[in-house]
Amino acid sequence: FHRAMSTLPKVYVTRKVPPDGLDILRKSGQVQFEMWDSDDPVPRVELLKKVKGCDGILCVLTEKIDAQLLDAAGPNLKVLSTMSVGFDHLSLDELKKRGIRVGYTPEVLTDAVAELTVALLLATSRRLIEATHEAKTGGWGTWRTLWLCGHELANSTVGILGLGRIGVAIAERLKPFKVKKFIYTDVEPRPELAKMIEAEYVSLDELAKESDFLAICCALTPETHGICNWNLFSKMKKNAIFINTSRGGVVNQEDLYEALSTGVIAGAGLDVTTPEPLPTHHPLYTLKNCVILPHVASASYTTRNSMSALAANNLLAGLRGEPMPKELKL
Ligand code: DGY
Repeated sequence: FHRAMSTLPKVYVTRKVPPDGLDILRKSGQVQFEMWDSDDPVPRVELLKKVKGCDGILCVLTEKIDAQLLDAAGPNLKVLSTMSVGFDHLSLDELKKRGIRVGYTPEVLTDAVAELTVALLLATSRRLIEATHEAKTGGWGTWRTLWLCGHELANSTVGILGLGRIGVAIAERLKPFKVKKFIYTDVEPRPELAKMIEAEYVSLDELAKESDFLAICCALTPETHGICNWNLFSKMKKNAIFINTSRGGVVNQEDLYEALSTGVIAGAGLDVTTPEPLPTHHPLYTLKNCVILPHVASASYTTRNSMSALAANNLLAGLRGEPMPKELKL
C-alpha cells in the first residue's frame, strides 16, 4: 500500500483551502498531497522547499509563482492550479516556457463579486460607513436637511473599465436602480457582452468625463498597471464615485488620495489596494470619503467552496493529461 501511494503524482497545496476542494483531492485517490494547513500564507522559504519534485501545485493569490519557484519545483511540475480568477501573481511566460499548464477559477465567483461591488458602491455613494459611525458616536444630533447626503444611482451614467463577465454582472444588478446609461472601455469593443447590458463603447477619456459611477473590472496587466491615475481622476466629475474590486495595482494611490482629499471626485470604494494588507497608518484610511474593504469580494461560503472545488478539478484533470474545466490558455 505504501509503495502504491508513493507512485501517485505529488501535489503541494499552499493554503488550507475550503472543504469542497479538499474532499475532491482526498476522494480522487489520484494524488498524494501535502497542504500548508493554515489560514496564513506559507513562508516563502518553506514553499520553495515543499514544491521540490512536485507534479502539481494548488496555490492562492498570495503566492508569487515565478522563475525562482518553478526552478525550485523542478522538471516534474506539470500543472499549476490557482484558486483565483486573477492571475497577476503568475509569471505566465515562465510557466509557458516550461510547458506547465495553468488552471484558474473564472465564472464561479462572478455573482459574489458583482454583489459585493454593488454593496461597496452603495456604501460609498450613500456614505453608510460614515453614517453608522455618526450614529454610534453621538454625531446624530437631529434630522438635518443636507447632512450625510450622497449621490444616487437613479438617472446616472455608470462607466465600466474592462468589460468582462464581472462588469456585465455588475451592470445587470445596477440596472433596476434606474441607471440611465452604461458606458465602457476596453482594449477593443466587446459587442456581445455590451449588448447584454446595452452599454456603449467609449474612449478612456470619455469614460472619465461622463461617468457618475466608475467601476474598475479589468485584469491587472502591464497595460492596466496604474491606469487610474491623476490623468483619469482629473477628468472625472466632482460627484463621481470610483469603485475598484479588481486589483490594487491598476490605481495610483497617491493620485487617488489627492483626488479624494481635494474634492476632485466625491468618493472611492476599494476592495483591493497596494499593498495588501494596506498598512493601518495609510493616508487613505484618514479620508471619510474612502471606504476600504480587505479584499473580500468573492468571500461567500458558497463561492469560496466552488473556487476550491474548481481549483481541485482543474489540477486533477491537468495531471490526467485531460482538458481542464477552466484552463488558462498560455
Ligand atoms: C480572485 O479570484 O482573483 C479574487 O481576487 C479573489 O477571489
